[in-house]
Amino acid sequence: MYPERPAGLAFGGDYNPEQWPREVLEEDAALMREAGVNLVSLGMFSWALMEPAEGRYDFGWLDEILDRLHAAGVAVDLATPTAAPPAWFVAAHPDVLPVTREGVRIGFGGRQSACSSAPAFREATARLVRALGEHYRDHPAVAMWHVHNEYGAPLGECYCEHSVAAWRGWLRATYQEISALNDAWGTTFWGQTYTDWSQIDAPRFNHTVVNPAQRLDYARFSDGQHREHYALQRDILRELTPHLPVTTNFAGTVNCKSTDLWQWARELDVVANDHYLRAEQPDNHIDLAMSADLARSVAGGAPWMLMEHSAGAVNWQPRNLAKRPGEMRRNSLAHVARGSDSVLFFQWRASRFGAEKFHSGLVPHAGTDSGQWREVVRLGADLRRLAGVRGSRVRAEVALVWDWESYWALELDWRPSVDLSFRERMDAFYEALWREHVTVDFVHPSADISGYRVVVAPSAYLLTEAGAKNLHRYVEAGGHLLVSYFSGIVDEHDAIHPGPHPGALRELLGLSVEEFHPLRQDETVPLTTEPGTEDLRGRIWSERVRPAGAVTVRAFAAGPDAGHPAFTRHDLGAGTAWYLSTAPTGGRALRDLLGQVLDRAGVSRPRGLPEHLELVRRGRHVFLINHGDEPVTVEGVTGVSVFDGERCDGRVTVAAGAVTVVEEIPRPEGERA
Ligand code: GAL
Repeated sequence: MYPERPAGLAFGGDYNPEQWPREVLEEDAALMREAGVNLVSLGMFSWALMEPAEGRYDFGWLDEILDRLHAAGVAVDLATPTAAPPAWFVAAHPDVLPVTREGVRIGFGGRQSACSSAPAFREATARLVRALGEHYRDHPAVAMWHVHNEYGAPLGECYCEHSVAAWRGWLRATYQEISALNDAWGTTFWGQTYTDWSQIDAPRFNHTVVNPAQRLDYARFSDGQHREHYALQRDILRELTPHLPVTTNFAGTVNCKSTDLWQWARELDVVANDHYLRAEQPDNHIDLAMSADLARSVAGGAPWMLMEHSAGAVNWQPRNLAKRPGEMRRNSLAHVARGSDSVLFFQWRASRFGAEKFHSGLVPHAGTDSGQWREVVRLGADLRRLAGVRGSRVRAEVALVWDWESYWALELDWRPSVDLSFRERMDAFYEALWREHVTVDFVHPSADISGYRVVVAPSAYLLTEAGAKNLHRYVEAGGHLLVSYFSGIVDEHDAIHPGPHPGALRELLGLSVEEFHPLRQDETVPLTTEPGTEDLRGRIWSERVRPAGAVTVRAFAAGPDAGHPAFTRHDLGAGTAWYLSTAPTGGRALRDLLGQVLDRAGVSRPRGLPEHLELVRRGRHVFLINHGDEPVTVEGVTGVSVFDGERCDGRVTVAAGAVTVVEEIPRPEGERA
């Protein structure tokens, strides 16, 4: 259920009026109108004002704000303020303060200072959310509910006494018998056999490595506790206002490791995501695109909401670079291109005090006589012109397998190399596809993937039998699968699949691995070169692959596996399974190998386009985002340019740093391009 209001695309952001005097609030309403703001998120950190003492609710101050916004035509995404429990509550219930893995109980003074499992926190949450819901159930400004803020960041796992009690209950419900837990965790290793549930603790800091299966389950459990805290609120709100959608904002699809968003997305009426650029990273718009594609994918392809990003600099990175002119517009429209029906920011007005006073806002400290404000007003106008995009879908022919459980498991301790990293491989493959102008979806290994021409598994270390069977079926039915090294190694308990690696994928890939040969830091090894192809080197990984049906496309030319396969192909049923056992390095290396797979699967890419021209199709609209310093002419686009109304017949030029959106008009039958 996507919010009905505002019509068209939503534009606005977090609004924290409690920080400002009345004159400023009056000015806010006028400025919101000027910029075309139509949705604000309100109340996120206002528990202390909504409930100044236990059981005494005060919404009078907020009524006035909602009324003013409503009069200004601004809809409200009303937040439950549970990410900021008040001082009186924490003082009365100090046991709600979370405990770190190292055993440190955090203090009051930041935010997210209550454990999702703590009974006092859950009870206070339920009372407050009911009071808030009852008070605002009929207010005409309220368009949707925004529960909490960014579950999982910074509070992922908590190690307090309430967490441990809930953990034991979770283990009992999951395993039923203690012997089943012992089997799943492999407790005969290091003599960890449990004979009673009460002996089991959270996987606290230890002077050596803690049982990896225990840690993996604790990650699942902890994430589930936050979801329970969310669902508690959602259920109350749904009961009171069944007509209003409920969401919570993800702390960045690609950047929040602790939340399994495949599971979360099922609990939300609409997926909402936050994204902040890593300001110093070159080409950081690729990370943005990946975050947006993952948000759309967990939403099942449905339109999602960009709940927060920044107008300019953030204030929590080592060096907080301001956005360059045009960058905020490119960022915003890239999210829309990839399926967002909103462009919302943290925050409306830059704060004068508190921890985030150097963070940008739509209204900067410099005021409205500023380049930034002029860009904000222009963006509002652009989004109004793009209203027709609302609800339309992005289609992808290629999917990347992304599984948070595999992410968690891979990055536990004592792996064959410290250079094995889920994000490193995922980023490498995503970037190669982005530079090829290929739009991708992300998929869970057990999802229905039959509709994709190519599926890539860059880092599927943990793969269940069910996941492996799904990939097998996909290939047999004609799919093209590309798997990267150290995939299919362990099951859901981080236990190695029986027999030679990669146990879950041996048959599918038509090979086995005799031994891992991780490379030294900064070491690279050459691969054999085919005539007409560029030199290719691998880094991070090498291993002794023994083909059993697969054919060698490229071999290692030197290093520990000289003469043995590095890149293989296995024809199986109607499809093909490819395997890459190193990390290609330099220039176009990975793109060249991927290109072979894409070509064989018939995935077409626009030819002759410079890499920095981002091209995404959403419904009838083609988004052309020029991240470079020179104008680019794109061929093969016919329609009307949305921002200036110009017709383009087969070609369109996008100025340096600019964004052009063309609404394609189908040619009448018989007319030639
Ligand atoms: C987000 C958070 C916001 C604000 C923002 C600053 O993670 O949800 O409340 O702190 O970061 O970049």
